Parts: sequence; C-alpha cells; structure tokens
Amino acid sequence: MNKNKLVFSGVQPTGNLHLGNYLGALKNFVALQKEMECIYCVVDLHAITVFQKPEELKSNLLETVAGFIAAGLNPDKSIIFNQSSVSGHAELAWILNCVSRIGWLNRMTQFKDKAGSDKEKASVGLYIYPNLMAADILLYKATHVPVGADQKQHLELSRDIAQKFNNDFKCKDFFPLPEPLIPKNVSRIMSLRDGTKKMSKSEESDYSRINLKDSADDISKKIKKAKSDSDQIPDNLKALEKKPEALNLITIYSEISKISLEKVLNEMSGKEYSFLKNKLAEHLISEITPVGKEVKKLLADKSHLLQVLKKGKEKASIIAEENLKNIREKVGLI
Ligand code: AMP
Ligand code: TRP
Repeated sequence: MNKNKLVFSGVQPTGNLHLGNYLGALKNFVALQKEMECIYCVVDLHAITVFQKPEELKSNLLETVAGFIAAGLNPDKSIIFNQSSVSGHAELAWILNCVSRIGWLNRMTQFKDKAGSDKEKASVGLYIYPNLMAADILLYKATHVPVGADQKQHLELSRDIAQKFNNDFKCKDFFPLPEPLIPKNVSRIMSLRDGTKKMSKSEESDYSRINLKDSADDISKKIKKAKSDSDQIPDNLKALEKKPEALNLITIYSEISKISLEKVLNEMSGKEYSFLKNKLAEHLISEITPVGKEVKKLLADKSHLLQVLKKGKEKASIIAEENLKNIREKVGLI
C-alpha cells in the first residue's frame, strides 16, 4: 500500500449505473483499491444542482452504493460514503468559490451542455459545480482521481484552484495537484443509438445504454438493436474513423473480452457486425448480469448499506476535519 498516494473519486446518485460508468470508472476504482488508499464518494450535493425528487434521491443513493460494492469495492478497504454527510465538502467549496475565477468557470463545457440554451435559468449550483468537485478532492488532499474523459476539464480546473490557493496563501505544496487517471481505450463509452454522444443516464431511450441491472434478455436485445454498420468489419482502425457506432461496439468488445483492438480486427475482419454482436452480448451477459444480481441482493438489505455509509462517513470525517483545520488556518479564519 503506497502511503503517499490517495485516491478520491465521486459518482452522482442520479439513476442507474451503466456500462459507461462501469468501464470508464468503477473497474478502475476496484483495481486501485488493491494498490492505494481509496475514498469513493456518492456525490449527492452535485446531484441536486439539477432538481431531484427527494425520495428518488434517497433511493438512488443506496442504489449507487450497492453498485459500488457489487462491482467489487470492499467497504473494509476503501472508504465509501455520501458527500452531504461530511459538511467539510460544502465548507471548503465556499472557500474555493473565493479562489476560483469566473473566467475559469465560463470555459467549462459540461455546464454549457447541461444548462442548455437558456443559461439564465440554470441553478447557481450547476455553474459552480466544478468548485465543489475541487473541494471534494482537496478536502482529502487526494493525489489521484480515476474518472472518465468527460471529467478531464473539471480535473484541470481542480489543479488550477489548488495551485492558486497554494500561491495566494504562500503555502507551496500544501494542496497536491491531483492527477487524473483516465482509462486509455474506454474513457468514453458512446451511446448505442448515436456514436457521437456519450452513454449516459440522461439519454431518453433505454436502448442507448446497458444498465448494470439489465437482464440477459435486455442485454441481448439492446446489442442486437445497437446501431453498427452495413459494411463488413474492416481490418484496421482508420477505416472506422467515420463510423463511431461500429468503433464503439468494437472497443467495448475489446475491453470486455480483454483482446486488444488490433487482434479483434485481425480476427473479425470481413465478418458481418452480427457476428461481433453475438459474441459481445455473450461477454456482457457473463460480466454484467452477476453484478446486477448482486445489486438487487444488496438493495434487499438497506440497513447494511446505511451501515456502510455510516462507517465511511466516520472514517472520511477524521481526515476531512484535520485538513479543514489547517485550511482554515491558512486562510485566516478563526
Ligand atoms: P456520473 O454518473 O456522471 O457521476 O459519472 C461517474 C463516473 O463515470 C465518472 O468518472 C464519469 O467520467 C464516468 N462516466 C460516465 N459516463 C461515462 C461514459 N459514457 N464513458 C466512460 N466513462 C463514463
Ligand atoms: N463530476 C463528476 C461526474 O459527474 C462526479 C464528481 C464529483 C467527482 N466530485 C468528484 C469525480 C471528485 C471525481 C472527483 O462524474
């Protein structure tokens, strides 16, 4: 266990976890837990930047924790908790709101996407969301942050905020500059219906994504219906440049079967996409359905999940309070 490294990441409790979350984030979370100290947070304060029905927010929180554990996180090894249970996140976010610059936030593409055409109507929380994300990471002085590619810009902002704090308060190296850990091939799993959009909980059609709780039958149907290409599978990646749906299916297959992209193309070139789809569905069913079944089993015992969160909160609070005491001192708050 490397004592100088600390991993932090967050997932919003806004609905079903899907294959993008699993390949882009959760699998990495599980691998890292073997090598480093890890803190995994269900970021409920981020979720409410867009209105959430209170009852749904509560059940989505438990569902996300169940997804963490079912994917392989061990609550005895990693700290698992929800963001709003440690008040230091909100407190540090306020301090960082005063360090971060409006010009920096104005460059954030996720805000532009989520706020849509009428930005005047977006919540203030949605606008300063990246400052809260920086607070999540810096509250623990985390050094490594596993995320999908969509979070890269937010991570860069966290580094800028950390650096400005260290400069403004003349405390070089006080906050480490957190490093993103972004998986190479599966940093952006795309929608099964439109290969130019990322797979997401918010896309309307359920056929656009594979959810961890999907049955074998659902997975087969969704893969069968997924957009691909009427040409045969080519023997090189360049030929897939303008065929994002086909590239997405091949990438998912390569990752889940643990066969390199080059080898997949070597073995399958000249075949129809239906051949790839059958094999892909088999692999997905054998990897994803056991996770989904475990999620359902875990959700049947809510008191156990609440206990995991309580224990996680206690462990997270110890680190957060110690760091916050030093942060307040640096800023001059008594
Ligand atoms: P969210 O569900 O938006 O809170 O995302 C949780 C984690 O999953 C983050 O690290 C995201 O970067 C990652 N993620 C979400 N969607 C995708 C996707 N389509 N492909 C790869 N990673 C993703
Ligand atoms: N913004 C991230 C997402 O939407 C979730 C998140 C919040 C996060 N705080 C974080 C990720 C801190 C990494 C570290 O996916």
